[in-house]
Amino acid sequence: MTAYEKLQIALRAEPKKWLVTGAAGFIGSNLVEALLKLDQNVVGLDNFATGKRGNLAEVRRLVTAEQWRRFKFITGDIRTGAACQKACQGVDYVLHQGALGSVPRSIAEPLNSHESNVNGTLNMLLAARDQKVRTFVYASSSAVYGDHPGLPKVEDRVGRPLSPYATTKAVNELYADVFGRVYGLPTVGLRYFNVFGPRQDPEGAYAAVIPKWLAALLKGEPVRINGDGKTSRDFCYVANVVQANLLAATTTQPKALNQVYNIAVGARTTLNELFGLLVDGLNPELPAAKRPQPVYADFRAGDVQHSHADISKAKRLLGYRPTHRIDQGLREAMVWYRANVG
Ligand SMILES: NC(=O)c1ccc[n+]([C@@H]2O[C@H](COP(=O)([O-])OP(=O)(O)OC[C@H]3O[C@@H](n4cnc5c(N)ncnc54)[C@H](O)[C@@H]3O)[C@@H](O)[C@H]2O)c1
Repeated sequence: MTAYEKLQIALRAEPKKWLVTGAAGFIGSNLVEALLKLDQNVVGLDNFATGKRGNLAEVRRLVTAEQWRRFKFITGDIRTGAACQKACQGVDYVLHQGALGSVPRSIAEPLNSHESNVNGTLNMLLAARDQKVRTFVYASSSAVYGDHPGLPKVEDRVGRPLSPYATTKAVNELYADVFGRVYGLPTVGLRYFNVFGPRQDPEGAYAAVIPKWLAALLKGEPVRINGDGKTSRDFCYVANVVQANLLAATTTQPKALNQVYNIAVGARTTLNELFGLLVDGLNPELPAAKRPQPVYADFRAGDVQHSHADISKAKRLLGYRPTHRIDQGLREAMVWYRANVG
């Protein structure tokens, strides 16, 4: 039995109280769904900056009426200290996901990204400290590796950030580390690598590559690849991220705390390969002559060229074992996009 399987049995037997910030977003709503399905008590906090009421409505349809009664949602903003204090009351574990994502958004609006990602996280750290939560888990990002050329990425070798977004995530890690040492708050930072799955928004200028391309292919619209398509990513299905959060929050190993971890699969897929996987997955019967072809455009500012995680630290200290490779995750994600696009 894996550490995660054991944990799920223990949580069902003895439910805990969790706070998920960014609960109406993609990753947040997947965490809420997983926790409610484990009969946990969950508080959600979101200001709907990018999150959607529809995401929570979908979670409601996917859990039982009794499980839904264990969910309390607070409409609130993490830029406000009082909202964070209120949300943390009586909470065992915080899973802090609320932030403005996207490298290009942060280049266009650096102050907005700073206020939600840095001030918001500092407010959440203070609230978690004051309300004496057991563990504060927060979403960091592979973006913190910045211009460090090393591959695969190892946690203690980071470069200079390439965008305001990456800077906000690096500052989150510095604050979390200080809160561990100065106030004794147990924290765990999870550096997510290109997460994808159901409820990830395919719309808008700042959509991530997988939902954007899936939606375009389903609608018969052209797909644009920024660069030559050789850019590579360690695409990580959201179920793996849910697993990492639950393992991190509940770890009983002191040496696993006040650390940061890569959360990915430990594999590399180029954008050209991703395009092929999506086209084949959506329409395996398509003759070669009818296959859609991507349109190539310029590289995007602030993007790192290659991203590939060494996940051995999360395996060793958290017992993390990703359950979904990219192809397995895409199969599940495609079911959702087919049902929800258009
Ligand atoms: N999706 C990825 O590939 C990825 C990769 C690395 C890191 N992350 C991080 O994971 C977290 C979740 O990302 P996501 O992909 O689910 O994005 P998302 O945009 O779907 O979710 C973020 C949520 O935070 C909420 N939010 C933003 N500002 C807020 C504020 N001031 N107060 C309250 N709520 C606020 C939004 O409304 C949204 O619901 C973020 O911290 C993001 O930076 C995501």
